[in-house]
Amino acid sequence: MIERAINLRIPGPTPLSDEVRKDMGKQVINHRGKEFGIILKSTVERLKSVFDTNDDIFLFTASGTGGVEAAIVNTLSRYDQVLGFTYGSFGDRFIEIAETFGVNVMENDTEWGKAVSPEDVAEELSYFPNAKAVLIVHNETSTAQTVRLDEISAVIRRHREEVNPDLLFLVDGISSLGITPFKSSQWGIDVAITGSQKGLRVPPALAIVTVSERAWWASQHNDIPRYYWDFKKAKQFLEKDSPQTPFTPAVLEINALNNELERMLEQGLNMVYARQIETADHVRAGLENMGFELFGDQETASVGLTAIHYEHADQAVEKLMKMGLDIAGGQGKLAGGILRFGHMGAFTKDEIDKALDIVEKTI
Ligand SMILES: Cc1ncc(COP(=O)(O)O)c(C=O)c1O
Repeated sequence: MIERAINLRIPGPTPLSDEVRKDMGKQVINHRGKEFGIILKSTVERLKSVFDTNDDIFLFTASGTGGVEAAIVNTLSRYDQVLGFTYGSFGDRFIEIAETFGVNVMENDTEWGKAVSPEDVAEELSYFPNAKAVLIVHNETSTAQTVRLDEISAVIRRHREEVNPDLLFLVDGISSLGITPFKSSQWGIDVAITGSQKGLRVPPALAIVTVSERAWWASQHNDIPRYYWDFKKAKQFLEKDSPQTPFTPAVLEINALNNELERMLEQGLNMVYARQIETADHVRAGLENMGFELFGDQETASVGLTAIHYEHADQAVEKLMKMGLDIAGGQGKLAGGILRFGHMGAFTKDEIDKALDIVEKTI
């Protein structure tokens, strides 16, 4: 199983470094003890650099979707009118979760293969100036597209200044954190969500959220009940003399994340992002040279994964798997029509070439 993971090129989980694998095999420690408190505090501090914020940060033991649910149940109320922008299946899911809790979502659909534009956001806000929140996915993993979050954040800022200072901005950054620049505070994001298994390069198990002042205010006035996901409880435990989480966390995983973040920060985030672009360019050139047609608008193509048109994609995924390469097919309405080659995380050129070689020889 571990050997096969060398050729794991799905859009998350990403393959683990030897250091992370070693950390995951360590003896567990007391999650209410001092040693863990130091690790948790350090992890939160390092995460602040990746999110580029001084907002509160909480770690929940869950997959990324738990973080999306946490963002909604802590800030929104039943019947709130919110704007949900979608350009793929994870945007659809964001909306579905909000609707599950009785939130009234005005849905804006962008064709799959394109990214929601800042103009789309401005237009919707002009129709619904008093919307409580904007929900958006930064990097839509199902279509390999990324929105221009800096420009969208400028639209949000203007709307707050001119019309509605309380507008909440909730962003699913599950497949963008640690992959492409993210500026949570500068972009006025109230809750940014990520997961551990993509750009943060550790196994699946953690949902991580930031919480702004505006989000705290909203959480004191909303009416959706929560227990496990309660931000207030998370803050009370994190602020103990020895920081903790309210419930038993993924202790080994948090330690591994703390150490992986240290390595990423030592390397420098700008270097991490630059290498991600290099890798994406290399994959795209390789696939195009083989004659594949890239899927979607290349102006807004993701740096974390590459999608190509491919008929009978499911059979191709199976064939590649037999040759020791795991890549992903399409999701939802793109099932069977595209292949998605994941390249988020740290790869050497050789590792990418090895995977491209299997693609060339197999399909
Ligand atoms: C953009 C985005 N949102 C949400 C999710 C769901 O995350 P998880 O499977 O960790 O719950 C993913 C996972 O691929 C994703 O890429």
